[in-house]
Amino acid sequence: CGAIHSTRFFSSSNPVAPPPLAFCFDIDGVLIRGPNALPAAKRALSILEGDNPFGWCVQFSSGIHLGLTNGGGVSEQIRCQKLTKQLGFSIDNDQYIQAHTILKTLAHKYDKEPVLILGGRLDTLRKVAQDYGFHQAHTTLDVLASNPSVWPFHSLTELEKETAKTLDLGRTRFAAAFVFHDPRDWALDCQILCDIIQSGGVVGGPHIDPMKNPDPVELVFCNPDLLWKSDFPRPRLGQGGFKAAFQGVYQALTGTQYPHIQFGKPTRETYKFAEEVLVDRLGGLYGAYGLPRPNVYMIGDNPESDIAGANGAGWHSVLVRTGVYEPELGEPSHLPTHEAADVEIAVRWAISREL
Ligand code: G3P
Ligand code: MG
Repeated sequence: CGAIHSTRFFSSSNPVAPPPLAFCFDIDGVLIRGPNALPAAKRALSILEGDNPFGWCVQFSSGIHLGLTNGGGVSEQIRCQKLTKQLGFSIDNDQYIQAHTILKTLAHKYDKEPVLILGGRLDTLRKVAQDYGFHQAHTTLDVLASNPSVWPFHSLTELEKETAKTLDLGRTRFAAAFVFHDPRDWALDCQILCDIIQSGGVVGGPHIDPMKNPDPVELVFCNPDLLWKSDFPRPRLGQGGFKAAFQGVYQALTGTQYPHIQFGKPTRETYKFAEEVLVDRLGGLYGAYGLPRPNVYMIGDNPESDIAGANGAGWHSVLVRTGVYEPELGEPSHLPTHEAADVEIAVRWAISREL
């Protein structure tokens, strides 16, 4: 259905039409679990393609809908290609927002300074950071390859040796550290973060009290999730677990936690960024620039990230029971939301109450 079978959209000829109905889908625990697409996900996206009693249709790929995940580690393009294969529906890069996509708006601040990037497969991550505009992005494995005694308990694998890029640590002052995705070696990454923060950015440099440093290392986390749902029966520790580990070590060393910036769901910045992407798609697709906000339903599995963030952004929220949230383990969600068994039921409920 290329056309829009609905009067749901603004156009210059009909500026008083109700705001457009848009869906923002969380990924892990809602559409997929690890490598497996949830059956309800394919049924939900079919509904957007017109398989519903209302004749309503705004296709996922050519429509205004978004994927909004605290996941990441690879480019939006690679992730969308994989998700398209998993779901059997085309997912565009520009409708897919990962935990670190928002860093595209920050890269210009650091395009001439060395930054430390952490998380995921680091050779892949370097390309993501460079494509965002971080032209001097170095990984924690680059640091280890440059001086293996930085952390004597991690011997680089042959692949890590091939992909790491050594640097002169004594002459490299890291201006910032960005935790793009979930780190693989928490101990190595905690060590190097503590090194650069306590030496003005230079690994192995003289101690400089960060609280007295006029230009301290900026620390940015992109995903606060303590837990997330993969294909294991119980939720797994996420980047929020790494942050707790780092801050615990840093506090043991210094008596205080290190100030940092937090992006990712449920932060206001990430939802504001997502809404700007949504409005851009609306404007691009329907010429609806400068009109009231779209009517967004966020469908997620994690009350602390998806539901809290959507509620804070003034969106509708629907909490599904296919991911982190497990009502059988406790009370219904402590947050105002609508609960649904899965993403198909959630989409049907939202459309039925809007059309
Ligand atoms: O690392 C991914 C995990 O933290 C959660 O992903 O898609 O449920 O926001 P998602
Ligand atoms: Mg999720």
